[in-house]
Amino acid sequence: MLADEAPFQTIIEPFRIHSIEPMRMTTRPERAAALAAVGYNLFGLRATDVLIDLLSDSGTGAMSAEQWAGLQRGNEAYAGAPSFYRFRDAVTRLFPFRHVLPTHQGRAAEKILFSVVAGPGRVIPNNTHFDTTRANIEFTGAEAIDLPVPEGLAPSIRQPFKGNMDVAALERLLAEQPDRVPLVMLTVTNNSGGGQPVSMSNMRAVRAVCDKFGKALFLDACRFAENAWFIKTRESGYAEVPVPDIVREMAALADGMTMSAKKDPLANIGGWLAMNDDSLAEQCRSLEILTEGFPTYGGLAGRDLEAIAQGLSEAVDEDYLRYRTRSVAYLGEALESAGIPVVVPFGGHAVFIDARALLPHLDPLHYPGQALACALYLEGGVRGCEVGTVMFGLHPDGSETPAALDLVRLAIPRRTYTQSHIDYVIEVALRVAKKAGDLPGLRIVSQPRQLRHFTARFVPLS
Ligand code: F0G
Repeated sequence: MLADEAPFQTIIEPFRIHSIEPMRMTTRPERAAALAAVGYNLFGLRATDVLIDLLSDSGTGAMSAEQWAGLQRGNEAYAGAPSFYRFRDAVTRLFPFRHVLPTHQGRAAEKILFSVVAGPGRVIPNNTHFDTTRANIEFTGAEAIDLPVPEGLAPSIRQPFKGNMDVAALERLLAEQPDRVPLVMLTVTNNSGGGQPVSMSNMRAVRAVCDKFGKALFLDACRFAENAWFIKTRESGYAEVPVPDIVREMAALADGMTMSAKKDPLANIGGWLAMNDDSLAEQCRSLEILTEGFPTYGGLAGRDLEAIAQGLSEAVDEDYLRYRTRSVAYLGEALESAGIPVVVPFGGHAVFIDARALLPHLDPLHYPGQALACALYLEGGVRGCEVGTVMFGLHPDGSETPAALDLVRLAIPRRTYTQSHIDYVIEVALRVAKKAGDLPGLRIVSQPRQLRHFTARFVPLS
């Protein structure tokens, strides 16, 4: 670049499209019928009835040519496949833990870890537990406690690291009941808290508290690369540090991790559990053999391990991360400038609309997030996900209270949609926002006792 040349303003998708997947247009009456048929639960829809699917960024990314090539290299030996060693080396290049146990996805790693360390009477603190993490902990009889910083619960406060843990609250918990806490978790980025990152200095402070009380620290690292990018671009002292070095610094503060390879590692399936502690690893490996498979494949085909290994190197590419975070912010900025309340600043994988603020006429127990998510689908075939009272409001004792926030998450699959797709989403959201005051709340007509957001059925209140 010549010295007098300014950088280009347009941050482009740093890839060409290599193969395509057609999308199906639907009519409004078709979408209305589909909604009624699935009891106003968007998880019940057929994906072919969805135009732009922002339900999840999990396993929905587009793989690269090199990842597809990796599938051909996949070795399916029952034990000791070279694909496992390529996978393990790719993981430990970024997360140098002594033991790496592949699993079929993140929740399988959680299930194994908490089956070993949790149980009745135990307490697991986290900045904010993801729903499967919470459910896996509660399933063992233990308690899952969220300790976000106060600004993490204030959608409109613009601070760079709203995913941080409340370190003083952690210290209080550990001082009051040190024997009940087997380990501390940090979720990077904090998905349920709005996709907000955790700063390196917060991780260091949490580490110091863990050291003081002799507790292990585990990362739920699904979106580690996006978190590292925010550290690079928002935290002082990191602008010149390469993203892989930031990731290694994060890993060095922890004793282990759970991971879903369906997020930042750009794979369609997979995960792992990693740790340094030899005896914990031995117990986890025994359970892994029981539930996932032999420890060199752990519920995955060798070709999946190859896709993850390659995806990990692409996930920390800075051109990719610049595009990734920019494209999320592009959607967020458009909604914000149209007056739609959104969680700011924008996180790494999704834009979260504050449905409680957009639909103030609805009581939280009439599920404003669900009402808004249904309206976005009805209006334009856009599928988002309620992250609010439907997801978090039902407690193990059967009682129901409003969640801290009622959000709708528009999660952006990695490398999948183009800017014009996102422009369409913006247009749909703006139309829905104009009608926000008329949107009806919902009533639950049937639900399971746990993880109700996947299968509950609703009817609109007239
Ligand atoms: N931890 C976090 C922070 C997650 O976001 C997820 C999944 C998991 C653990 C579980 O991983 O799906 O591979 O078993 N989140 C997805 C989502 C489902 O849509 O946010 P998994």
